[in-house]
Amino acid sequence: MKVCVIGNGGREHAIAWRLSISPSVEKVYAVPGSAAMGGVAELVGIDWTQTDLLIRFLKDNKVDLVVVGPEAPLVAGLADDLNKASIPVFGPSKAAAQLEGSKVFAKDLMKKYNIPTAAYGVFSDVDEAKQFIAHTGAPIVVKADGLAAGKGVVVAMTVEEANVAVEDMLSGNRFGDAGSTVVIEKFMAGEEASLLAFVDGKTVVPMIAAQDHKRIFDGDKGPNTGGMGTYAPAPVLTDALRDTAMKTILQPMVDALAVEGMPYVGCLYAGLMITDQGPKVVEFNARFGDPETQVVLPLLEGDLGQIMLSCATGSLEPKQVKWKDSSAACVILASKGYPETSSKGDVVHGELKQYDTTIIFHSGTKLEGEHFVTNGGRVLGVVGLGKNLRTALDRAYERVNHIEFEGMQYRTDIGAKAFKN
Ligand code: GLY
Repeated sequence: MKVCVIGNGGREHAIAWRLSISPSVEKVYAVPGSAAMGGVAELVGIDWTQTDLLIRFLKDNKVDLVVVGPEAPLVAGLADDLNKASIPVFGPSKAAAQLEGSKVFAKDLMKKYNIPTAAYGVFSDVDEAKQFIAHTGAPIVVKADGLAAGKGVVVAMTVEEANVAVEDMLSGNRFGDAGSTVVIEKFMAGEEASLLAFVDGKTVVPMIAAQDHKRIFDGDKGPNTGGMGTYAPAPVLTDALRDTAMKTILQPMVDALAVEGMPYVGCLYAGLMITDQGPKVVEFNARFGDPETQVVLPLLEGDLGQIMLSCATGSLEPKQVKWKDSSAACVILASKGYPETSSKGDVVHGELKQYDTTIIFHSGTKLEGEHFVTNGGRVLGVVGLGKNLRTALDRAYERVNHIEFEGMQYRTDIGAKAFKN
């Protein structure tokens, strides 16, 4: 089959790479992709917002399946437009993508269907929000309702910090419309894990559990980022806890969306907090995680193209999805100034080839002459593979030692939590 991946980041590089080695896939296109993705896909110079042009390209080239990587096109309704043109899509409709596009929508649905998550309030008025904060106390979590590129969440350790976040979002217009309503949640203590699942509208098949590292600095210090590194499998989500999460969170949410008339198709991402009372939802995302994808997909056995097509056509079977008995770790190399700013145009020095035990996925690079240069906050995801996590991490960090660019920053403690017990 011919598959078209929408997007140009590290997640989409990993998806296109994995599709390119799927037995059922004869051709991968990337819209628009990145220069690095050109190694595994044919790049198509169309922007996803040029819907008519995109549909014409997909029809002319007899593309069998579109895989939408990022949240923005999903929240904008790209899957609906493609489905209307009878093109199968791996990715949810605009209605179902509200699960990520609106925190209020997600929290209200969880409340309605008794899906475990933190208690919360919804506010558009600064004074009312501050009263709620004063009453609840810190630590407390403030979230912009809409999409904010991973930056719309503040885990405030003090009431003052929470008040500043609320002012920033509601009166400071920090995230524009996306922050004109906020969700304020009770803080949940525990360790986080990301559980992604393939979904075909009703059947939900979990992937291997991963753990992200959201803060910029070692020891989970500094501001939140899109994710500075991941590893899988994550031992914090034991088989028993994963089964619990499937029974109490992922399957009920997919069932709820079907009942609400917006069946969910694609990758459902549950960000979980493993609390003393079991797994609870931190957030849902309507797409693969970045950089979770970079560690999950290399461990997949089975034909990703077939699995995704089965999701898009409502015929997913659990037996299609199998996992290797090994581990993967991803270290993100970020550019100077990230996450507040990012630098562009710094030459990336070092060996960027792919080997059996290490893979480099490009998150934000472009080709200038013969050199890749930085082109965004997160630049590269360096993935190590091994029979266990220690080996995978050693291989990833060994590879990192041979890559360099001006202002390069990365965490040195990816995977450390897996060894703490
Ligand atoms: N790694 C977090 C996310 O993809 O949202």
